[in-house]
Amino acid sequence: MSSAGVTSRRNADQLIASGSVTVNGKLVKEFGTAATWGVDDIRVDGQQIPSPSERLYLILNKPFGYICSLRDPQGRPLITDLLKNLGRRVYPVGRLDFDTMGLLLLTNDGEWAHRLTHPRYQVPRTYKVTVAGRITDPAIADLRKGVLLSDGPSGPAKTALVARNENKSIIRITITQGRSRQVRRMIEAAGFRAVHLIRIAFGNIELGKLKVGAYRHLDTEEVISTKKLVGMI
Ligand code: URA
Repeated sequence: MSSAGVTSRRNADQLIASGSVTVNGKLVKEFGTAATWGVDDIRVDGQQIPSPSERLYLILNKPFGYICSLRDPQGRPLITDLLKNLGRRVYPVGRLDFDTMGLLLLTNDGEWAHRLTHPRYQVPRTYKVTVAGRITDPAIADLRKGVLLSDGPSGPAKTALVARNENKSIIRITITQGRSRQVRRMIEAAGFRAVHLIRIAFGNIELGKLKVGAYRHLDTEEVISTKKLVGMI
């Protein structure tokens, strides 16, 4: 069910426990009951789960001020507001902060999303960061070595200086985890402040020239290369 993007692995057990799942018309009572996706008729609350050929893989250029959740109690704009006529629900692969822009993957393939975001797979994410003031060489060296954050060491980050003057600096930084506000906190730990953050790459997918607020389907090569990266094929 998580591969089909119906729910997370954890919630799949809850759906089974609550009697929502049937396979070929029979109520599933045991966890781990064998069923073949695309062959057996698997239903959640009577709804057939999407077949493998209905899996969607999208890349969106997230604008500033949009929320990555599927709803927001404060009524702020949601990234799903930007998706038109998909006919199926998709979920963001990890999150970008409200004030971060750039590359966001969306899918209904739960296994793909799980692997791309799980720390075990160390999938690199690259950000272009505008930093207030002139970033120093020692601060860049600290980012490269890794800094200490409140939830543990950040680990080393590939960091390149793109430009700097007295008012602002631009760096490119690659991390392999997606902890909450990680890049902003790393820059703060190095003694500076990030004022603008754009994710420009995730694994081997690049944002390229996709317009802010626009999305496209990943092409087959891109889907295959990400699946290879996380050992799915
Ligand atoms: N790091 C951050 O600080 N924010 C993001 O949105 C992503 C990575």
